[in-house]
Amino acid sequence: MTRLENRLALVTGASAGIGAATARALAQEGARVVLAARRMDRLEALAQELPGALAVKIDVRDAAGLARALDGFDFDLAVLSAGMARGTEPLHEGEPDEWQEVVDTNIMGVLNSLKVVLPPMVAAGRGDLVFLGSVAGRAVYPGGNVYCATKHAVRAIYESARVDAVGSGVRFCTVDPGMVRTDFSRVRFRGDQAAADAVSRGMTPMAPEDVADAILYAVTRPAHVNVGEIVLWASAQASCTMVHRDA
Ligand SMILES: NC(=O)c1ccc[n+]([C@@H]2O[C@H](COP(=O)([O-])OP(=O)(O)OC[C@H]3O[C@@H](n4cnc5c(N)ncnc54)[C@H](OP(=O)(O)O)[C@@H]3O)[C@@H](O)[C@H]2O)c1
Repeated sequence: MTRLENRLALVTGASAGIGAATARALAQEGARVVLAARRMDRLEALAQELPGALAVKIDVRDAAGLARALDGFDFDLAVLSAGMARGTEPLHEGEPDEWQEVVDTNIMGVLNSLKVVLPPMVAAGRGDLVFLGSVAGRAVYPGGNVYCATKHAVRAIYESARVDAVGSGVRFCTVDPGMVRTDFSRVRFRGDQAAADAVSRGMTPMAPEDVADAILYAVTRPAHVNVGEIVLWASAQASCTMVHRDA
């Protein structure tokens, strides 16, 4: 028997990277997965692969649209992976429009998603809510500034949700990775693939499947166990500022 049989899961940010790998991992364990993001072509291609999966177009910044798109689903499990960064300029050289985009996606996007999935879970007395934090939510690094601020906020939202919903039967987990090979850096460097590739030069970052595996561990524990926080580092990364690179 698969461990997530009869569970309905939402994965935001399922069109790429960690979200897509997590959707695959949940589906392999028998969950029916609602794949949510903006790029429908990618979601539909993934939905073809995964039995019972459904693709739903959402922009996590649009609270009303999100609520409409996810109306009528009764989720047992939600993984909030939609997120992004823009640039690594020093804070004093940053662009307010880009700050807004990152704040709206990573903070309001998480809150908007949580507003849709959490109240029914609390009412039902069960559910798993997994946040995609980051080691950038535990420390800052040069040029990380606003992205780090949003991931610190995700960590505070995770802690707040656990405190506010204690005794409800809902479990909360934040999974906080270091360097993972995804489209994240290409988005951050505004499409500059060479700059994105340089991030993991001379070292082996984690694969999105490594993070998905940790998420799967958290949501398959017995009901009385809440895996709260998982920090994952690439073996060559000691902190947000220290990475060993081969010559
Ligand atoms: N990669 C890393 O090194 C790393 C490390 C720590 C934490 N994280 C976190 O992990 C999460 C996933 O990132 P990733 O590495 O998998 O990056 P990715 O490959 O770029 O995937 C990001 C996902 O977020 C979705 N997304 C972005 N903005 C959205 C919006 N407004 N509405 C709906 N979906 C949106 C994207 O889908 P669409 O563009 O199709 O909408 C995509 O599916 C993020 O929260 C990121 O901060 C990543």
